[in-house]
Amino acid sequence: MEPRRVLLVVSGGIAAYKIPELVRRLKRTGHAVRCVVTASAREFVSPLTLQTVSAEPVRESLFDRAEEGQIDHIALADWAEAVVVAPATANLLAKLAAGIADDLATTVLLATRAPLLVAPAMNVNMWSHPATRANVATLHERGVEIVGPEAGELACGWEGEGRMAEPEAIAGALELRLGRPSLAGERVVVSAGGTREPVDAVRVLANRSSGKMGFAIAAEAARRGAETILVAAPSALPTPPGVRRIDIETALEMRDAVHAEARSAGVVVMAAAVADFRPASAHARKLKKEDLPEGEGLTLELVRNPDILAELCREPGERVVVGFAAESHDVVEAARRKLARKGCDLIVANDVSREDAGFESDANAVVLVSPGGEAEALPLLPKSEVARRLLDRIEKLRGARS
Ligand code: C5P
Repeated sequence: MEPRRVLLVVSGGIAAYKIPELVRRLKRTGHAVRCVVTASAREFVSPLTLQTVSAEPVRESLFDRAEEGQIDHIALADWAEAVVVAPATANLLAKLAAGIADDLATTVLLATRAPLLVAPAMNVNMWSHPATRANVATLHERGVEIVGPEAGELACGWEGEGRMAEPEAIAGALELRLGRPSLAGERVVVSAGGTREPVDAVRVLANRSSGKMGFAIAAEAARRGAETILVAAPSALPTPPGVRRIDIETALEMRDAVHAEARSAGVVVMAAAVADFRPASAHARKLKKEDLPEGEGLTLELVRNPDILAELCREPGERVVVGFAAESHDVVEAARRKLARKGCDLIVANDVSREDAGFESDANAVVLVSPGGEAEALPLLPKSEVARRLLDRIEKLRGARS
């Protein structure tokens, strides 16, 4: 992504302590970052910290002659190519909605013409108050992007919606807003995680897939401007910015969701570890060990699940369909056979016997296997980078088709 000039407005909430991390993330992507802090933000984060991590002077006051002499507030508003307000307090949202400009932060926010992202953070009751709801709706109508808040434990002791979105999510949303939309107008469906097949009321047959690879692919597709649908098996991973997530549990539920969403999709990536078998019938109640004498066996009858990937490949159309192959030996050969059997456009093969890659790891070493039999081995890379390279390849395949 091209480096941009980002103005970060920090208002006074406890989440302000996370802002230096946001600044560092934005700087790492190459952006120039300047911070404006409100008087109450200074109670939570030190301007000197922000100045150090941003390597730019931090502006605090509208009427400070030295500060205004360096870059006046209108020049600062014009300098910004994007403005992020994080954390955005209820008070700041209210002023923004009403167009009040009574300090440096709100004056700059009224003067700028740059796209605006806000990351609210406040007590759950303040967030759900009709006044805040109305202010957020007004801002949303005006094209302001609202990132978060998330639900969870709040610093004030309450539980509920009000936590500021994590710096990673805020940076991701900003990238989406500013990024090069190479997949704009494209619909991409990604499946992720390991399905769960119920055995009885409490037990499931599961597998070790973490979903990280599929989530990374969905995040990258959204970043490239695709309408992205993530069909996710149970996972604690956060939904990437700009992604529509459909939570499912079983292979049959995944099949329904994937087929429904894939109908008008240009790309489908089946990164999920779909259970090949499910119990023939799930017991409605918990199986009790007391029902079996000690030493006796319990037989579970399993039936084959449909192969979603193979079904998708059999449907006619221009769609690019990508499968994954987790193999423990003869990785490339096994992937070539799988590709021929299922009929997909590309197989991403990974060696699950490696200790430094695969299932729960953040890194992956994959081989991209094409229908012609060609195999491109990628080095061990973070899953986000594997996702980028995979989508570069998918874009080429899509380009060749349309
Ligand atoms: O046949 P195998 O499970 O090794 O193939 C893996 C690929 O097939 C993955 O892309 C997985 O998402 C997909 N798959 C599927 N439906 C199944 C089993 C696997 O779509 N029932």
